[in-house]
Amino acid sequence: MVLMPTIQLRTAIPGPKSKALAERRTKAVPRGLPHSTPVYVARAEGAVLEDVDGNRYIDFAGGIGCINLGHRSEAVLNAVRNQLDRFLHTCVQVTPYESYVRLAERLNELTPGKFPKKTLFVNSGAEAIENAVKIARAYTGRPAVIAFEDAFHGRTMLTLALTSKTHPYKSGFAPFPGDVYRVPYAYCYRCSYSLKYPSCDIFCARHLEDTFKRVVAHEEVAAVIAEPVLGEGGFVVPPPEYFRVLLEVCRKHNILFIADEIQTGFGRTGALFASERYGIEPDILVSAKSLGGGLPLAAITGRSEIMDAPEPGGLGGTFAGNPLSCEAALAVLDLFAREDLSARANELGEIFQERARKWQDRWPLIGDVRGLGAMQAIELVQSQERREPAEEESKQIVQYCYEHGLIILTAGSYSNVIRLLMPLVITDEQMDEGLDVLEGALESVCEKKGQVAQTV
Ligand SMILES: Cc1ncc(COP(=O)(O)O)c(C=O)c1O
Repeated sequence: MVLMPTIQLRTAIPGPKSKALAERRTKAVPRGLPHSTPVYVARAEGAVLEDVDGNRYIDFAGGIGCINLGHRSEAVLNAVRNQLDRFLHTCVQVTPYESYVRLAERLNELTPGKFPKKTLFVNSGAEAIENAVKIARAYTGRPAVIAFEDAFHGRTMLTLALTSKTHPYKSGFAPFPGDVYRVPYAYCYRCSYSLKYPSCDIFCARHLEDTFKRVVAHEEVAAVIAEPVLGEGGFVVPPPEYFRVLLEVCRKHNILFIADEIQTGFGRTGALFASERYGIEPDILVSAKSLGGGLPLAAITGRSEIMDAPEPGGLGGTFAGNPLSCEAALAVLDLFAREDLSARANELGEIFQERARKWQDRWPLIGDVRGLGAMQAIELVQSQERREPAEEESKQIVQYCYEHGLIILTAGSYSNVIRLLMPLVITDEQMDEGLDVLEGALESVCEKKGQVAQTV
């Protein structure tokens, strides 16, 4: 099955079948599980989705970063088909299988750092972060973890404690596990210290020393955990030297550095892992999302001596590292070895930046254009001088987009960032077509606000 590579709208969006499903869903599924579009998917291929009413969309959401290799990548499908004919589940803690070990070997090799490493597999990003913290505590014998403002690490209780945004993630779910401390991230567009890069000399990273005096003693801290580029927090890209400075502070106090590469991993930022873009070697690197090529899988990869700290039986899970997901992930890594998808991510980033910079010149709504590789975004504001977040306008843009054949997501603590997570296999034509729709959305929303485009 090859879907047409263009947007095709047969009905008003949502179509009648999607509407009927929405009614059933309202009765059957809790309202706490939201969805950003009202369209129900029937099938998908590459960077295109087709809904149950036969409408086709370009996909700039990629299953929130899980589909870097495209929907139904042939290599992933073949790997899963082969495994289907062998066995589905035995539980790796009972009768293990070779693909789990081979995948661990591959990730130990591919993650940054030439030191000996080991990898543990689990089912989801949040579960992986939980395990990374367990392992860091077991190794250091220390309780505390430092996380960042605007961070997102998942929806379980510990990962909610690490996550920053209150509504809708945290509100109503407290109490959360303790010994989690929060410090400002390198969000230069909204610097918590009102400083300017580069004259700030990366004050936000160096300020950790102050945190050790006034908030939590360094000898109590097991790990600092950070996303190399904020995902849900709004695709915030720290300055190039930020993580090197942060790691220097961590090393000085024997504090582990955990990189949450769940959204930044697997080519998204123009390298297999974003840590490579920053020239750092995390003690523990957590990956998930596109690792499984669409199947659920997450990995915790770290220095061998750290990963071996928990005693036998201290780590595990019934479905953790299931055979279908391991085979899919091996196919994902093979594809990265064969094709330079990271280079493609950088090309896609450039295509976006070129257009988005023009949009920023035309419309005051666009406060910031930023990104690394194909992890690109625009932050929308009421005015470029005062930078008040434009949350309502961001919602309207997402709605205009899906009504015109483009699936796209917001992000950010103020829900005012439009982010791009298109599959890296998207063609230039599809990319242009998607950006045309986004431009149409900006034009329409800006016109409504009375913002007339400046000719540039
Ligand atoms: C950076 C980051 N960490 C953790 C998570 C949680 O992953 P999961 O939803 O698989 O639990 C996400 C999910 O969006 C994420 O982007």
